[in-house]
Amino acid sequence: MKKIMLVFGTRPEAIKMCPLVKELKSRKNVSITVCVTGQHREMLKQVLDTFGVTPDYDLAIMQSGQTLFDVTEKVMEGIKKVAGEVKPDVVLVHGDTSTTFAAALACFYMNIPVGHVEAGLRTYDVHSPYPEAFNRQAVGAIADYNFAPTPLSRDNLLREGKKPESIFVTGNTAIDALSTTVVRDFDHPALEWAKGSRLVILTAHRRENWGDPLYSIFRGIRRVVEEFPDVKVLYPIHLNPLVRKAAEDTLSGCDRIRLTDPIDTMIFHNILARSYMILTDSGGIQEEAPSLGKPVLVLRDVTERPEGVAAGTLKVIGTKEENIYREFKRLLTDEKEYDAMSQAKNPYGDGLASKRIADVLIYGKMMN
Ligand code: UD1
Ligand code: UDP
Repeated sequence: MKKIMLVFGTRPEAIKMCPLVKELKSRKNVSITVCVTGQHREMLKQVLDTFGVTPDYDLAIMQSGQTLFDVTEKVMEGIKKVAGEVKPDVVLVHGDTSTTFAAALACFYMNIPVGHVEAGLRTYDVHSPYPEAFNRQAVGAIADYNFAPTPLSRDNLLREGKKPESIFVTGNTAIDALSTTVVRDFDHPALEWAKGSRLVILTAHRRENWGDPLYSIFRGIRRVVEEFPDVKVLYPIHLNPLVRKAAEDTLSGCDRIRLTDPIDTMIFHNILARSYMILTDSGGIQEEAPSLGKPVLVLRDVTERPEGVAAGTLKVIGTKEENIYREFKRLLTDEKEYDAMSQAKNPYGDGLASKRIADVLIYGKMMN
């Protein structure tokens, strides 16, 4: 019986790996082990609870203020132990986090084949996003199976010399998750609070935005909110204390900006689906928004998700206060631009990515 082990550790990996865990567990003649690194704690638990996934192993590595060294070292040591015990035939990792990189590297050192879910996204600048762009490329160098979400990500891998037979265009499992979370009837106190206003969702946490860029983003946003009495901003803040401090320093004390703890994914996706627009530096939200038809101003200098830009949903606006102020205001006042960005076009697949990945692992090819 083929032994498949899945390793993940942060909120976005969990959101996009849980549908795959469920799909693989529904198949016969495979043995599935879920190992979480616990790079995130509360934010990981929220997702595991939402999807009803119970890990077999939890490395529980998170500490407040952890560095890239802490995470990388602990994940490598932990995976060495767990993989040594489980002896998997293949280990699946997701995306671009330190968990992803360190787990893949540990498997490479142990000669265990690696499957990379969400492979081939590129900015070709290892400093942006940092260190994620490096992590994703490094895992690409190691992976035996490359599950590319789009033809564009496949082409990136082919250009880098990956063997065509190792690449499978599956769609993104983010869409698998979204198709199970968004429901028709939904209400929530945050939506009650925003009734009669335009609800803007804000999230920001990227490492390269820590410090001045975050302060500058938040100042630009606050200036706009103060000019538009019909706009309310909901910001579920990442649990990183650095991010929380920047948000509280610049955004608190305005009754049309609500700062909250991270929101359960099921609830968050339903709020996103009912929002007016999104301001974010998140990767995953850039994949979700085109399906939901919600315009996104991307608070970064570059994106590894150009499909959403081509679809017209995403606009990359950087982190400078004046740009944030101008572009946010433009989207609130320019109806034509807003309508053009609100068309629901989903370049990220049909919600069957997990099935395709499972088929490849079990039958050696995609069945649909
Ligand atoms: C990590 C990933 C990033 C991903 C993000 C998703 C790396 C290098 N970065 O960044 O790619 O976009 O997750 O959110 O892998 N914390 C808590 N509780 C939690 C989670 C985090 O308290 O449940 C706090 C801790 O103080 C922790 C800090 O946040 O030290 C930073 O967490 P870490 O995983 O190191 O970095 P992220 O910025 O979350
Ligand atoms: N998300 C969530 N609750 C929140 C904020 C975000 O469930 O309060 C979800 C969001 O819908 C997306 C994922 O978390 O699926 C994105 O995670 P994050 O922004 O932490 O990481 P990134 O995608 O940037 O790596």
